[in-house]
Amino acid sequence: MDVSTLITGIGELTTNDDELGSLTDAAVVLDGERIAWVGAASAAPDADSRVDVRGRAVLPGWVDSHTHLLFAGDRTAEFSARMAGKPYQAGGIAVTVEATRAASDTELLKNLLLHVGEANRQGTTTIETKTGYGLTVTDEVRAARIAASVVDDVTFLGAHLVPPGSEAESYVDLVRGDMLSAVAPFVRWADVFCETGAFDETQSRAVLKSAQEAGLGLRVHGNQLGPGPGVRLAVELGAASVDHCTHLTPSDVDCLANSDTVATLLPACDLSTRQPLPDARALLDAGATVALASNCNPGSSYTSSMAFCVATAVLQMRMSVDEAVRAATWGGARALRRETGDGAVGVIRVGARADLHVLDAPSTTHLAYRPGVPLTHSVYRKGARL
Ligand code: NIG
Repeated sequence: MDVSTLITGIGELTTNDDELGSLTDAAVVLDGERIAWVGAASAAPDADSRVDVRGRAVLPGWVDSHTHLLFAGDRTAEFSARMAGKPYQAGGIAVTVEATRAASDTELLKNLLLHVGEANRQGTTTIETKTGYGLTVTDEVRAARIAASVVDDVTFLGAHLVPPGSEAESYVDLVRGDMLSAVAPFVRWADVFCETGAFDETQSRAVLKSAQEAGLGLRVHGNQLGPGPGVRLAVELGAASVDHCTHLTPSDVDCLANSDTVATLLPACDLSTRQPLPDARALLDAGATVALASNCNPGSSYTSSMAFCVATAVLQMRMSVDEAVRAATWGGARALRRETGDGAVGVIRVGARADLHVLDAPSTTHLAYRPGVPLTHSVYRKGARL
């Protein structure tokens, strides 16, 4: 039998629901894995148990729609070299590929659970993660299988890098042929790193089209290290999201604004790779849908902190607190096509998944006002306190 919990005493409730908006002096009832009631604390119904959050702010759990958590090893030396002036290059991925191939299943699972747990403790309740550090049929299937045992949104990223020693065209044929067929049962999405030094437009289009024919949803790594075709390709193929969007032309911005493709911005990555921060204002003002995600991975962005991304977006990218919080919750859910229906995430409304982030602060403004301070008081995922 489902147990219901009344969360009351909410000083500020961010729902991301168009009708409910933001509420003060609010309450929420969780019933099993779903939200059963939302409204004024004074009108709240009874429940099996009651938690008074004493004026704290409550928002949906973070939806981190871009991570690479199936990895082993460490790239501290590469990071230090970068801080000393060396540029980030796609080729660094090969270092993690070698370490990941050498790791056992148990080590990969342990590392994945470690990072998912770390993210959960900071308020993240939905995480997408990718393959892409295997780059053989066996290693990509292994990564996808392990990932699928932990998270719902697994993305096939066989087209992350042409592995050292392979020839590009034959590797692309492998990715869209045998590798795709073997990995498809474990994944919901396919992705391509469309960038100089990784995969060009023709190769990227070929991989994405094969994945689409295999029934997978599409995501694209685009315009990370320089201007390029990634955004236009993602929109042309109806990808759910194009991620990075660091180097956009005005026509890329227009293209996104007139599409259903989410622009997922990864500010922690841009800081760690000494890239400029994306022009979030241009995207939002043009009407594009923006998500914020951590891009947690050992090479370009080794953080699981969505709060850090939100604070950076407000302090450095001229997003308002409301825009940044929405992008890190509802925006991520939209990028994963999970923002509507029964069990929706990134939103607090009746029927949505009971994923709540209680802040040790009276309002979400504190996320930017007190950057770097751990403000997570408690986290509920599928109705259970983590
Ligand atoms: O999203 N850009 C490509 N992939 C990752 C980086 C992976 C790595 O350097 O290991 C990213 O930044």
